[in-house]
Amino acid sequence: MDEKVLRVKDELLKIHFITPKIVNFHYSKYGKFDKNYSLCVDYEKIKDSGVRVTYEEGENYYRLSTDYLEIIVSKELGKVSIYDKGKNLILSDYEDKGYVKEGKKIYTYKKIRHEEAFLGFGERLGPLNKRGHVLINWNTDESDHSVGNDPLYQSHPFFIAWHPTASYGLFFDNTFLSYFDMGKGDKDYYYFCAEDGDLDYYFIYGSSPKDVIEGYTYLTGRYYMPPLWSLGLHQSRWSYDSEIKLYNLAKEFRKRNIPCDALYLDIDYMRGYRVFTINKKRFPHFEKMVKDLKNLGFKLVVIIDPGVKWDRKYEIFKEGLSKDFFCRMENGKVFTGYVWPGKSVFPDFLRKEVRNFWGEKLREFINMGVSGFWNDMNEPSVFSRIEYWAMKILFHILKFKEPPKLPKPKNFEEKIKQIKRKTVHEKVIHKEDDKIFYHSEIHNLYGLLMNQATFEGFLRANPHERPFILTRSGFSGIQKYSAVWCGDNKSSWENLFSSIITLQNLSISGVPFIGEDVGGFWGDCERELFVRWMELGIFYPFFRIHTAKNTRNQEPWSFGDEVEKIAKDFISLRYRLIPYIYSLFYEAKEKGIPLIRSLILEFPNSKEVLSYEDEFMFGPFILVAPVYEKEKRERKVYLPEGFWYDFYTGKRYRGGTLVKVNAPLNKIPLFLREGAIIPMWNTQSYVGEKKQEMLNLEVYPGDGKFLYYEDDGISWDYEKGMYNLIEFSTFKKEEKQFLRIRFIHKGYKDGTKSLKVHYCKKEKKLELMEGEFEIN
Ligand code: GLC
Repeated sequence: MDEKVLRVKDELLKIHFITPKIVNFHYSKYGKFDKNYSLCVDYEKIKDSGVRVTYEEGENYYRLSTDYLEIIVSKELGKVSIYDKGKNLILSDYEDKGYVKEGKKIYTYKKIRHEEAFLGFGERLGPLNKRGHVLINWNTDESDHSVGNDPLYQSHPFFIAWHPTASYGLFFDNTFLSYFDMGKGDKDYYYFCAEDGDLDYYFIYGSSPKDVIEGYTYLTGRYYMPPLWSLGLHQSRWSYDSEIKLYNLAKEFRKRNIPCDALYLDIDYMRGYRVFTINKKRFPHFEKMVKDLKNLGFKLVVIIDPGVKWDRKYEIFKEGLSKDFFCRMENGKVFTGYVWPGKSVFPDFLRKEVRNFWGEKLREFINMGVSGFWNDMNEPSVFSRIEYWAMKILFHILKFKEPPKLPKPKNFEEKIKQIKRKTVHEKVIHKEDDKIFYHSEIHNLYGLLMNQATFEGFLRANPHERPFILTRSGFSGIQKYSAVWCGDNKSSWENLFSSIITLQNLSISGVPFIGEDVGGFWGDCERELFVRWMELGIFYPFFRIHTAKNTRNQEPWSFGDEVEKIAKDFISLRYRLIPYIYSLFYEAKEKGIPLIRSLILEFPNSKEVLSYEDEFMFGPFILVAPVYEKEKRERKVYLPEGFWYDFYTGKRYRGGTLVKVNAPLNKIPLFLREGAIIPMWNTQSYVGEKKQEMLNLEVYPGDGKFLYYEDDGISWDYEKGMYNLIEFSTFKKEEKQFLRIRFIHKGYKDGTKSLKVHYCKKEKKLELMEGEFEIN
């Protein structure tokens, strides 16, 4: 028995054990279960889990237990309490408010434990710990990224409740507009609610936050191995709008010997912003250009917007309309709204045939050699006619560099109205087979579905290569398909700082391949800000420079020689780190563990580290402490317990304390954890330029272990076992430092042949073979 339906108060509660640690709680609504599906969790996978559960019914209670958990439901109040095997209370309903209905709206209230911290919630501006905050789930095109503004482009109704005795995760599987009040209204409880749909949530028990993330991504999915080139530098702007500009850009990178792998085309490559078209005046030899760029070692990524221009002479519009692929209003009329191309219609991505139609349109681009797709405006963002014309005037005629700030909403209700106005009408309908859904239920999934269409279309057109897809909008599970960037930030110190937090929040929410526009999107970037942002940007898993229309150039050489040199050094460091980064992606693929790790992920028992949200771990070994204030040339860094080594000088520090370190303009404070093993390549102009048969291993004193992963970097052959997995470990024995090499999996022939081990300024060459080697 892995499922039990109980009667609590006037409703039914279905408790389904997905694993001995993951439990689904699903309540009926006015006597029936509104839905027997999930739009986001793979039901087939979790349906018959076969978890062994012991069940007992007493006079006043029901009790269900597994090897890890004990759940008690009181009959009278319907109150759910969850204990671990040590009898610690982990989660309990607040009084009798485990389930509250108010018309269509549903709520649940939970007790807050003393010392509890709430982390995750997807793409959110600061702070890291959301205790005392309200978080709204409604995908919104928000151009003001001032700290505290909420929501942004993605919704991940998931969080981790960290506590010194036991942590848990909670995923609210409801796609309507919902929000979490994490103790803002009352400090004794938190609650979450949705405008409609069922109270359907998953409780994920974990010995540590990493354990919870593993459970959560088991439910919602994990990223595949990214194409190796996508770990290099991506250079973008709105817009490199002609062939000549793109050629010059490519040549400039190579001439200056600055590594770069991907160039971007923003909306101006299209004919009048008609999606899937090419402006032949600006790009007369598109296919040849893509080839030439490839020969120089560049991949091309093109932007795709979901809004299809209303134009009876335009193929995509005609086809979509004749096949009835666009969203309609309840009254049967095709829904129209304004986006870049003017009056537009919106594909109903909920339907498989529409996703196929869309995905097929990629084929021509893939055949011409385009390597990646950048899905934008897919909340979907919709302007009113007035806004559309205002934007045209501001950006095209008056050459604005950022949109004017809107007045802040006065209260919560006004806020909800404001964010709903920015998208498709709620009464628009979507269809799936015979079922009809209102946009209010599908809105948060629109971006995810567009990415699914892109992913599947890519695979059909090119089954041999892994896609690179970048998206702005998404929902829980977006990590199955795409990399994510956090939209339109600003060239400001505030936004450089907020990116550190936003990316930690998204990482905790199971999304590993993430980044922000390096240098900032809106407004002009200044010299020092650009330097500091590049120093941080090399630690964004997705590393792209991008900026808005009319703003100052943001190429690595646009700020003079000194900045160019620093930028180049850091980009080169990024390229050297690619083997480390790629191996971390293997961990993300296997377990969902992100690359950017809040300190609490690596030091799960230390409450203290929660106070240091302005630094993070990049993988298990590198502590990154960015400089985010103008003219700052030093900063305080908290080093968690253990020993640490300064990346630049090798100086050893004892952890468990704050240290003050120098941070001249050309240095971002970086510390290596004791026992660190960092596999590195020699730098190159682009991924694949040089055959990398020799791996540099940077080893630091202490005990440590690292799983090194390699494969061909582009095909799906790794799924057939064609990869190598090597465990490197280091330890001290009788005052000597050793490196142990163990092959866990051997399936790829063209990988590393030899090692150059660097240990405390000493260098040792080794053939790559199993064994134990002295390295000092
Ligand atoms: C949106 C995107 C931005 C892009 C612009 C023009 O604002 O977020 O990255 O440059 O649209 O396509």
